Amino acid sequence: MSSGLHGEPKILVVGATGKQGQAFIRALTRGPGEPPLFPVRVLALTRYPNSPRALALQKNRPWLELVRGNLDSRDSIKQVFVHAGGKGAIWGMFVVLAFAGLGESTEGEAVQGITLADLALHYGVSMFVYSSVHRGETDDDSELILPEHSGKVKIERHLQSLGEQGLHWTIVRPVQLMETYEGTIGKLSMTVFRAGLKKDVKMRMVAVDDIGLVVALLFQRPIGVAYKILVVTSVDLTIPEQEAAYKRGTGKRMPTYPRILGKFILAINTVTRDVVEYVETLYRHRSDNTELFEEHIANTHAILPASQMITFEEWAARNERRKKRKKRPDDGSDWNRISLAKIFTGRL
Ligand SMILES: NC(=O)c1ccc[n+]([C@@H]2O[C@H](COP(=O)([O-])OP(=O)(O)OC[C@H]3O[C@@H](n4cnc5c(N)ncnc54)[C@H](OP(=O)(O)O)[C@@H]3O)[C@@H](O)[C@H]2O)c1
Repeated sequence: MSSGLHGEPKILVVGATGKQGQAFIRALTRGPGEPPLFPVRVLALTRYPNSPRALALQKNRPWLELVRGNLDSRDSIKQVFVHAGGKGAIWGMFVVLAFAGLGESTEGEAVQGITLADLALHYGVSMFVYSSVHRGETDDDSELILPEHSGKVKIERHLQSLGEQGLHWTIVRPVQLMETYEGTIGKLSMTVFRAGLKKDVKMRMVAVDDIGLVVALLFQRPIGVAYKILVVTSVDLTIPEQEAAYKRGTGKRMPTYPRILGKFILAINTVTRDVVEYVETLYRHRSDNTELFEEHIANTHAILPASQMITFEEWAARNERRKKRKKRPDDGSDWNRISLAKIFTGRL
Protein backbone atom coordinates (compact mmCIF):
# COMPACT_ATOMS: atom_id res chain seq x y z
CA MET A 1 0.00 0.00 0.00
CA SER A 2 1.61 3.25 -1.04
CA SER A 3 1.32 6.23 1.26
CA GLY A 4 -0.08 9.60 0.23
CA LEU A 5 2.11 12.65 0.41
CA HIS A 6 1.19 13.33 4.05
CA GLY A 7 1.37 10.32 6.40
CA GLU A 8 -1.18 7.49 6.29
CA PRO A 9 -2.76 6.49 2.97
CA LYS A 10 -5.85 8.58 2.35
CA ILE A 11 -9.13 7.05 1.26
CA LEU A 12 -11.79 9.39 -0.06
CA VAL A 13 -15.24 8.02 0.74
CA VAL A 14 -18.00 9.34 -1.51
CA GLY A 15 -21.41 8.75 0.07
CA ALA A 16 -19.71 8.60 3.48
CA THR A 17 -22.79 9.67 5.42
CA GLY A 18 -24.99 7.15 3.60
CA LYS A 19 -25.70 3.56 4.60
CA GLN A 20 -22.86 1.90 2.69
CA GLY A 21 -20.33 4.64 3.44
CA GLN A 22 -21.06 4.49 7.17
CA ALA A 23 -20.85 0.68 7.10
CA PHE A 24 -17.44 0.87 5.43
CA ILE A 25 -16.19 3.36 8.01
CA ARG A 26 -17.49 1.21 10.88
CA ALA A 27 -15.75 -1.83 9.37
CA LEU A 28 -12.36 -0.09 9.46
CA THR A 29 -12.12 -0.56 13.24
CA ARG A 30 -12.94 -3.27 15.77
CA GLY A 31 -15.44 -0.98 17.47
CA PRO A 32 -16.28 2.58 18.51
CA GLY A 33 -13.26 4.58 19.65
CA GLU A 34 -10.79 1.97 18.33
CA PRO A 35 -8.03 2.83 15.85
CA PRO A 36 -8.29 1.57 12.26
CA LEU A 37 -7.15 -2.00 11.53
CA PHE A 38 -4.58 -0.68 9.04
CA PRO A 39 -2.97 2.74 8.63
CA VAL A 40 -5.50 4.97 6.94
CA ARG A 41 -6.89 8.48 6.94
CA VAL A 42 -10.47 8.75 5.74
CA LEU A 43 -11.67 11.82 3.90
CA ALA A 44 -15.44 11.62 4.28
CA LEU A 45 -17.20 13.59 1.55
CA THR A 46 -20.47 15.34 2.42
CA ARG A 47 -22.38 18.35 1.26
CA TYR A 48 -23.27 19.14 4.85
CA PRO A 49 -20.32 18.80 7.28
CA ASN A 50 -22.45 20.26 10.10
CA SER A 51 -25.32 17.80 9.71
CA PRO A 52 -26.01 15.41 12.63
CA ARG A 53 -25.05 12.44 10.45
CA ALA A 54 -21.72 13.97 9.43
CA LEU A 55 -20.89 15.00 13.00
CA ALA A 56 -21.79 11.53 14.30
CA LEU A 57 -19.41 10.06 11.73
CA GLN A 58 -16.55 12.18 12.98
CA LYS A 59 -17.16 11.57 16.68
CA ASN A 60 -14.34 9.50 18.28
CA ARG A 61 -12.61 9.06 14.93
CA PRO A 62 -9.54 11.32 14.91
CA TRP A 63 -8.42 9.49 11.74
CA LEU A 64 -11.48 10.75 9.83
CA GLU A 65 -11.82 14.18 8.29
CA LEU A 66 -15.09 15.56 6.94
CA VAL A 67 -14.58 17.20 3.57
CA ARG A 68 -17.18 19.39 1.96
CA GLY A 69 -18.00 18.74 -1.67
CA ASN A 70 -20.91 18.54 -4.07
CA LEU A 71 -20.85 15.89 -6.78
CA ASP A 72 -22.94 18.10 -9.03
CA SER A 73 -20.01 20.49 -9.32
CA ARG A 74 -16.83 19.15 -10.93
CA ASP A 75 -14.87 22.07 -9.56
CA SER A 76 -16.01 21.38 -6.00
CA ILE A 77 -14.74 17.78 -6.24
CA LYS A 78 -11.53 18.88 -7.93
CA GLN A 79 -10.89 21.13 -4.92
CA VAL A 80 -11.15 18.06 -2.66
CA PHE A 81 -8.20 16.49 -4.52
CA VAL A 82 -6.28 19.77 -4.52
CA HIS A 83 -6.77 20.34 -0.77
CA ALA A 84 -5.79 16.74 -0.04
CA GLY A 85 -2.37 17.48 -1.56
CA GLY A 86 -2.75 17.12 -5.34
CA LYS A 87 -1.41 14.27 -7.45
CA GLY A 88 -0.79 11.03 -5.55
CA ALA A 89 -2.20 12.38 -2.28
CA ILE A 90 -5.38 10.29 -2.29
CA TRP A 91 -4.48 6.60 -2.37
CA GLY A 92 -7.93 5.04 -2.55
CA MET A 93 -11.55 5.90 -3.23
CA PHE A 94 -14.76 4.17 -2.22
CA VAL A 95 -17.60 5.58 -4.27
CA VAL A 96 -21.30 5.17 -3.51
CA LEU A 97 -23.69 7.42 -5.42
CA ALA A 98 -27.20 8.25 -4.24
CA PHE A 99 -30.08 6.44 -5.95
CA ALA A 100 -31.66 8.70 -8.55
CA GLY A 101 -35.15 7.44 -7.61
CA LEU A 102 -37.45 4.87 -9.20
CA GLY A 103 -38.57 6.02 -12.61
CA GLU A 104 -36.12 8.95 -12.58
CA SER A 105 -33.35 9.73 -15.07
CA THR A 106 -29.90 8.44 -14.14
CA GLU A 107 -28.02 10.90 -16.34
CA GLY A 108 -26.88 12.98 -13.35
CA GLU A 109 -25.66 9.86 -11.53
CA ALA A 110 -23.68 8.80 -14.63
CA VAL A 111 -22.06 12.25 -14.90
CA GLN A 112 -21.11 12.18 -11.19
CA GLY A 113 -19.50 8.73 -11.48
CA ILE A 114 -17.66 9.50 -14.73
CA THR A 115 -16.35 12.80 -13.31
CA LEU A 116 -15.06 11.03 -10.19
CA ALA A 117 -13.35 8.34 -12.24
CA ASP A 118 -11.69 10.92 -14.53
CA LEU A 119 -10.46 12.93 -11.53
CA ALA A 120 -9.19 9.74 -9.86
CA LEU A 121 -7.12 8.91 -12.93
CA HIS A 122 -5.83 12.48 -13.23
CA TYR A 123 -4.85 12.69 -9.54
CA GLY A 124 -3.17 9.27 -9.51
CA VAL A 125 -5.58 7.35 -7.23
CA SER A 126 -4.22 3.80 -6.84
CA MET A 127 -7.42 1.97 -6.01
CA PHE A 128 -10.96 2.93 -7.02
CA VAL A 129 -13.79 0.84 -5.58
CA TYR A 130 -17.18 1.63 -7.08
CA SER A 131 -20.39 0.39 -5.51
CA SER A 132 -22.76 -0.40 -8.35
CA VAL A 133 -25.71 -2.82 -8.27
CA HIS A 134 -26.41 -6.45 -9.06
CA ARG A 135 -28.72 -6.55 -12.04
CA GLY A 136 -28.46 -10.11 -13.41
CA GLU A 137 -25.02 -10.95 -14.63
CA THR A 138 -25.11 -10.58 -18.40
CA ASP A 139 -21.88 -9.95 -20.28
CA ASP A 140 -22.88 -6.71 -21.95
CA ASP A 141 -25.93 -5.36 -20.07
CA SER A 142 -27.80 -5.18 -23.36
CA GLU A 143 -31.01 -6.35 -21.65
CA LEU A 144 -31.25 -4.21 -18.55
CA ILE A 145 -34.20 -5.24 -16.44
CA LEU A 146 -34.55 -1.86 -14.69
CA PRO A 147 -33.81 1.35 -16.67
CA GLU A 148 -32.76 2.92 -13.33
CA HIS A 149 -29.55 0.90 -13.60
CA SER A 150 -28.39 2.48 -16.86
CA GLY A 151 -26.36 5.19 -15.07
CA LYS A 152 -24.39 2.54 -13.21
CA VAL A 153 -23.76 0.61 -16.43
CA LYS A 154 -22.32 3.79 -18.03
CA ILE A 155 -20.06 4.33 -15.02
CA GLU A 156 -18.87 0.71 -15.03
CA ARG A 157 -18.08 0.91 -18.75
CA HIS A 158 -16.19 4.15 -18.26
CA LEU A 159 -14.16 2.65 -15.41
CA GLN A 160 -13.31 -0.35 -17.57
CA SER A 161 -12.10 1.95 -20.34
CA LEU A 162 -9.97 3.92 -17.84
CA GLY A 163 -8.45 0.64 -16.70
CA GLU A 164 -6.56 0.59 -19.98
CA GLN A 165 -5.09 3.99 -19.03
CA GLY A 166 -3.95 2.82 -15.62
CA LEU A 167 -6.91 3.22 -13.23
CA HIS A 168 -7.12 0.22 -10.91
CA TRP A 169 -10.86 -0.22 -10.52
CA THR A 170 -12.85 -2.77 -8.56
CA ILE A 171 -16.62 -2.97 -8.89
CA VAL A 172 -18.83 -4.25 -6.11
CA ARG A 173 -22.41 -5.07 -7.04
CA PRO A 174 -24.58 -5.40 -3.94
CA VAL A 175 -27.82 -7.34 -4.18
CA GLN A 176 -30.87 -6.04 -2.28
CA LEU A 177 -29.98 -4.58 1.10
CA MET A 178 -31.72 -6.16 4.09
CA GLU A 179 -32.06 -2.57 5.33
CA THR A 180 -34.81 -2.00 2.74
CA TYR A 181 -37.06 -3.64 5.34
CA GLU A 182 -36.34 -0.95 7.95
CA GLY A 183 -39.02 1.46 9.15
CA THR A 184 -42.43 2.24 7.70
CA ILE A 185 -41.26 2.11 4.07
CA GLY A 186 -39.64 -1.29 4.78
CA LYS A 187 -42.88 -2.56 6.27
CA LEU A 188 -44.72 -1.38 3.16
CA SER A 189 -42.13 -3.05 0.91
CA MET A 190 -42.74 -6.37 2.65
CA THR A 191 -46.50 -5.85 2.34
CA VAL A 192 -46.17 -5.27 -1.41
CA PHE A 193 -43.82 -8.24 -1.92
CA ARG A 194 -46.13 -10.56 0.05
CA ALA A 195 -49.08 -9.44 -2.03
CA GLY A 196 -47.35 -9.45 -5.39
CA LEU A 197 -44.45 -11.90 -5.53
CA LYS A 198 -44.83 -15.55 -6.43
CA LYS A 199 -44.12 -17.70 -3.37
CA ASP A 200 -41.24 -19.64 -4.96
CA VAL A 201 -39.29 -16.53 -6.09
CA LYS A 202 -36.04 -16.15 -4.16
CA MET A 203 -34.43 -12.82 -3.38
CA ARG A 204 -30.70 -12.39 -2.93
CA MET A 205 -30.02 -10.16 0.07
CA VAL A 206 -27.10 -8.73 2.00
CA ALA A 207 -26.73 -6.69 5.18
CA VAL A 208 -25.10 -3.31 4.63
CA ASP A 209 -22.50 -4.16 7.30
CA ASP A 210 -21.25 -6.98 5.06
CA ILE A 211 -20.85 -4.60 2.11
CA GLY A 212 -18.81 -2.32 4.38
CA LEU A 213 -16.70 -5.24 5.56
CA VAL A 214 -16.03 -6.59 2.06
CA VAL A 215 -14.88 -3.14 0.92
CA ALA A 216 -12.73 -2.63 4.04
CA LEU A 217 -11.08 -6.01 3.37
CA LEU A 218 -10.45 -5.01 -0.26
CA PHE A 219 -8.56 -1.93 0.91
CA GLN A 220 -6.77 -3.87 3.66
CA ARG A 221 -5.51 -6.53 1.22
CA PRO A 222 -5.47 -4.83 -2.16
CA ILE A 223 -3.34 -7.41 -4.00
CA GLY A 224 -5.12 -8.98 -6.95
CA VAL A 225 -8.40 -7.11 -6.56
CA ALA A 226 -8.00 -4.70 -9.49
CA TYR A 227 -10.31 -5.27 -12.47
CA LYS A 228 -12.55 -7.60 -10.50
CA ILE A 229 -16.33 -7.56 -10.19
CA LEU A 230 -17.83 -8.78 -6.92
CA VAL A 231 -21.49 -9.56 -6.41
CA VAL A 232 -21.96 -8.94 -2.69
CA THR A 233 -24.61 -11.32 -1.40
CA SER A 234 -25.19 -13.55 1.56
CA VAL A 235 -28.63 -15.20 1.50
CA ASP A 236 -31.17 -16.26 -1.10
CA LEU A 237 -34.69 -16.50 0.33
CA THR A 238 -38.33 -16.61 -0.73
CA ILE A 239 -40.78 -14.34 1.11
CA PRO A 240 -42.09 -17.23 3.30
CA GLU A 241 -38.45 -18.10 4.12
CA GLN A 242 -37.74 -14.47 5.04
CA GLU A 243 -40.77 -14.43 7.34
CA ALA A 244 -39.68 -17.68 9.01
CA ALA A 245 -36.10 -16.39 9.47
CA TYR A 246 -37.38 -13.13 10.95
CA LYS A 247 -39.54 -15.06 13.43
CA ARG A 248 -36.58 -17.26 14.42
CA GLY A 249 -34.35 -14.22 14.91
CA THR A 250 -36.74 -12.01 16.85
CA GLY A 251 -39.57 -14.18 18.13
CA LYS A 252 -41.91 -11.75 16.34
CA ARG A 253 -43.79 -11.76 13.06
CA MET A 254 -42.15 -9.74 10.32
CA PRO A 255 -43.74 -6.28 10.25
CA THR A 256 -46.32 -6.01 7.45
CA TYR A 257 -49.64 -4.33 6.83
CA PRO A 258 -52.73 -6.33 5.81
CA ARG A 259 -52.40 -8.01 2.40
CA ILE A 260 -55.30 -5.94 1.05
CA LEU A 261 -53.17 -2.80 1.39
CA GLY A 262 -50.40 -4.48 -0.64
CA LYS A 263 -52.92 -5.33 -3.37
CA PHE A 264 -54.25 -1.76 -3.28
CA ILE A 265 -50.76 -0.23 -3.66
CA LEU A 266 -49.99 -2.59 -6.52
CA ALA A 267 -53.25 -1.56 -8.20
CA ILE A 268 -52.64 2.20 -7.96
CA ASN A 269 -48.89 2.33 -8.35
CA THR A 270 -47.24 1.08 -11.52
CA VAL A 271 -43.72 1.54 -10.15
CA THR A 272 -44.36 -0.97 -7.34
CA ARG A 273 -45.64 -3.44 -9.97
CA ASP A 274 -42.42 -2.84 -11.92
CA VAL A 275 -40.36 -3.57 -8.80
CA VAL A 276 -42.19 -6.85 -8.18
CA GLU A 277 -41.72 -7.79 -11.83
CA TYR A 278 -38.05 -6.82 -11.56
CA VAL A 279 -37.48 -9.18 -8.62
CA GLU A 280 -39.19 -12.02 -10.51
CA THR A 281 -37.30 -11.36 -13.73
CA LEU A 282 -34.01 -11.10 -11.84
CA TYR A 283 -34.70 -14.47 -10.25
CA ARG A 284 -35.41 -16.16 -13.60
CA HIS A 285 -32.61 -14.28 -15.32
CA ARG A 286 -29.82 -15.28 -13.00
CA SER A 287 -30.54 -18.96 -13.45
CA ASP A 288 -29.82 -18.41 -17.17
CA ASN A 289 -26.46 -16.78 -16.44
CA THR A 290 -25.22 -19.00 -13.66
CA GLU A 291 -21.56 -19.16 -14.63
CA LEU A 292 -20.81 -15.44 -14.57
CA PHE A 293 -23.01 -14.92 -11.52
CA GLU A 294 -21.23 -17.66 -9.58
CA GLU A 295 -17.83 -16.25 -10.60
CA HIS A 296 -18.76 -12.79 -9.31
CA ILE A 297 -20.17 -14.21 -6.08
CA ALA A 298 -17.03 -16.34 -5.62
CA ASN A 299 -14.92 -13.16 -5.89
CA THR A 300 -16.76 -11.85 -2.81
CA HIS A 301 -16.68 -15.06 -0.84
CA ALA A 302 -12.93 -15.42 -1.44
CA ILE A 303 -12.61 -12.24 0.65
CA LEU A 304 -15.44 -12.79 3.10
CA PRO A 305 -16.73 -16.38 3.19
CA ALA A 306 -20.51 -16.77 3.02
CA SER A 307 -20.41 -18.61 6.36
CA GLN A 308 -19.09 -15.42 8.01
CA MET A 309 -21.74 -13.15 6.53
CA ILE A 310 -24.85 -11.95 8.34
CA THR A 311 -27.92 -14.13 7.80
CA PHE A 312 -31.38 -12.61 7.58
CA GLU A 313 -32.20 -14.11 10.96
CA GLU A 314 -29.16 -12.41 12.54
CA TRP A 315 -29.90 -9.14 10.79
CA ALA A 316 -33.50 -9.18 12.05
CA ALA A 317 -32.33 -9.81 15.62
CA ARG A 318 -29.73 -7.01 15.42
CA ASN A 319 -32.26 -4.67 13.88
CA GLU A 320 -34.73 -5.25 16.71
CA ARG A 321 -31.99 -4.57 19.30
CA ARG A 322 -30.88 -1.45 17.42
CA LYS A 323 -34.45 -0.14 17.26
CA LYS A 324 -34.69 -0.44 21.04
CA ARG A 325 -31.39 1.35 21.60
CA LYS A 326 -31.86 3.79 18.68
CA LYS A 327 -28.11 3.52 18.32
CA ARG A 328 -27.60 4.82 14.83
CA PRO A 329 -28.72 8.25 13.68
CA ASP A 330 -32.05 8.05 11.90
CA ASP A 331 -31.60 7.74 8.15
CA GLY A 332 -34.86 9.51 7.46
CA SER A 333 -37.88 8.15 5.68
CA ASP A 334 -36.77 9.40 2.28
CA TRP A 335 -33.95 6.87 1.80
CA ASN A 336 -33.74 6.05 -1.91
CA ARG A 337 -36.11 8.97 -2.48
CA ILE A 338 -39.12 6.88 -1.52
CA SER A 339 -41.82 8.47 0.61
CA LEU A 340 -45.32 7.55 1.74
CA ALA A 341 -46.71 10.50 -0.20
CA LYS A 342 -45.12 9.25 -3.41
CA ILE A 343 -46.35 5.67 -2.87
CA PHE A 344 -49.95 6.67 -2.27
CA THR A 345 -50.11 9.18 -5.08
CA GLY A 346 -48.56 6.73 -7.53
CA ARG A 347 -45.45 8.91 -7.93
CA LEU A 348 -43.00 6.48 -6.30
N1 LIG B 1 -31.24 -0.34 -1.52
C1 LIG B 1 -30.76 -1.42 -2.11
O1 LIG B 1 -31.27 -2.54 -1.91
C2 LIG B 1 -29.56 -1.29 -3.02
C3 LIG B 1 -28.96 -2.44 -3.55
C4 LIG B 1 -27.85 -2.30 -4.38
C5 LIG B 1 -27.35 -1.05 -4.69
N2 LIG B 1 -27.97 0.06 -4.18
C6 LIG B 1 -27.43 1.37 -4.54
O2 LIG B 1 -26.88 1.98 -3.40
C7 LIG B 1 -26.76 3.39 -3.66
C8 LIG B 1 -27.15 4.18 -2.44
O3 LIG B 1 -26.29 3.82 -1.39
P1 LIG B 1 -26.64 4.17 0.12
O4 LIG B 1 -28.00 3.62 0.40
O5 LIG B 1 -25.49 3.76 0.93
O6 LIG B 1 -26.75 5.76 0.04
P2 LIG B 1 -27.65 6.71 0.93
O7 LIG B 1 -27.77 6.16 2.31
O8 LIG B 1 -28.89 7.03 0.18
O9 LIG B 1 -26.73 8.01 1.03
C9 LIG B 1 -26.52 8.84 -0.09
C10 LIG B 1 -25.16 9.52 0.08
O10 LIG B 1 -24.90 10.30 -1.08
C11 LIG B 1 -24.42 11.58 -0.67
N3 LIG B 1 -24.80 12.55 -1.70
C12 LIG B 1 -26.00 12.66 -2.32
N4 LIG B 1 -25.96 13.65 -3.24
C13 LIG B 1 -24.70 14.18 -3.19
C14 LIG B 1 -24.05 15.22 -3.88
N5 LIG B 1 -24.67 15.94 -4.83
N6 LIG B 1 -22.76 15.49 -3.57
C15 LIG B 1 -22.11 14.80 -2.59
N7 LIG B 1 -22.67 13.78 -1.91
C16 LIG B 1 -23.96 13.48 -2.20
C17 LIG B 1 -25.07 11.85 0.69
O11 LIG B 1 -24.21 12.71 1.42
P3 LIG B 1 -24.66 14.11 2.13
O12 LIG B 1 -26.15 14.14 2.21
O13 LIG B 1 -24.01 14.02 3.50
O14 LIG B 1 -24.07 15.15 1.29
C18 LIG B 1 -25.06 10.43 1.28
O15 LIG B 1 -23.81 10.19 1.90
C19 LIG B 1 -27.68 3.68 -4.84
O16 LIG B 1 -26.89 3.99 -5.97
C20 LIG B 1 -28.46 2.38 -5.03
O17 LIG B 1 -28.81 2.16 -6.37
C21 LIG B 1 -29.03 -0.03 -3.34
